[in-house]
Amino acid sequence: MFANSREVQSNQQGVHTDLEKVVRRHLASPWQAPLADFDREAFAAALAWRQARGMERPLMLDSGCGTGRSSVHLALANPQALVIGVDQSADRLTKAERRFAPLPENLLLLRSDCAGLWRLMVEAGWKLTRHQILYPNPWPKSAHLKRRWHGHPVWPAVLALGGELELRSNWPVYLEEVKAALALSGHQAAIEPLPEGYEPVTDFEEKYQASGQVNWRLVAEIC
Ligand SMILES: C[S@@+](CC[C@H](N)C(=O)[O-])C[C@H]1O[C@@H](n2cnc3c(N)ncnc32)[C@H](O)[C@@H]1O
Repeated sequence: MFANSREVQSNQQGVHTDLEKVVRRHLASPWQAPLADFDREAFAAALAWRQARGMERPLMLDSGCGTGRSSVHLALANPQALVIGVDQSADRLTKAERRFAPLPENLLLLRSDCAGLWRLMVEAGWKLTRHQILYPNPWPKSAHLKRRWHGHPVWPAVLALGGELELRSNWPVYLEEVKAALALSGHQAAIEPLPEGYEPVTDFEEKYQASGQVNWRLVAEIC
């Protein structure tokens, strides 16, 4: 059950032929969709939490943190920083809170839609030291390009948040697309497989590793 994860199947073999057109369109016209009250409440909670701990502390975001394992890891490795792990799934966050109680002092697990929260953070002028998006849903069908973060209208907000950006995936095409999308804004990125015998930091990573799949990482410095 655990080590039986199938490799990503896609009707796409390389970077999507529409990627450049889609990314350029989003870079040229900021996303104007209304923000949900739900996301505004989440942002207000994050702001209050930061204010109580020190707005001057470096800020790190673990977007789509799932069951929180990578967020706890990041928070423990960076006690000087404030880490926010965000996920839309209340169920996964509840599991995280139970599993890792008590959470590190410098970690907030927050339920929100990343897209809304990122926009609110940008509007408020927040800047990240580090932003990790580990094993985002790949949306591997060619028709689903716009559901991938780099094909989504919120992509410019990811760039505006800045910091060291790291994405991981078991589908290297996703990361090649992120690299291509970053290049359109003048940002260089490096992609590499995770080295043999590495310690997994997320549950999905561990599952793919145990299934014999190669996991990949992309790193870029967004100034
Ligand atoms: C494949 S899981 C990876 C979870 C975790 N990063 C890991 O590697 O174990 C993708 C996660 O992204 C979350 N997610 C997907 N879309 C989201 C969105 N728009 N906002 C917030 N979380 C989202 C899902 O709820 C899920 O927990």
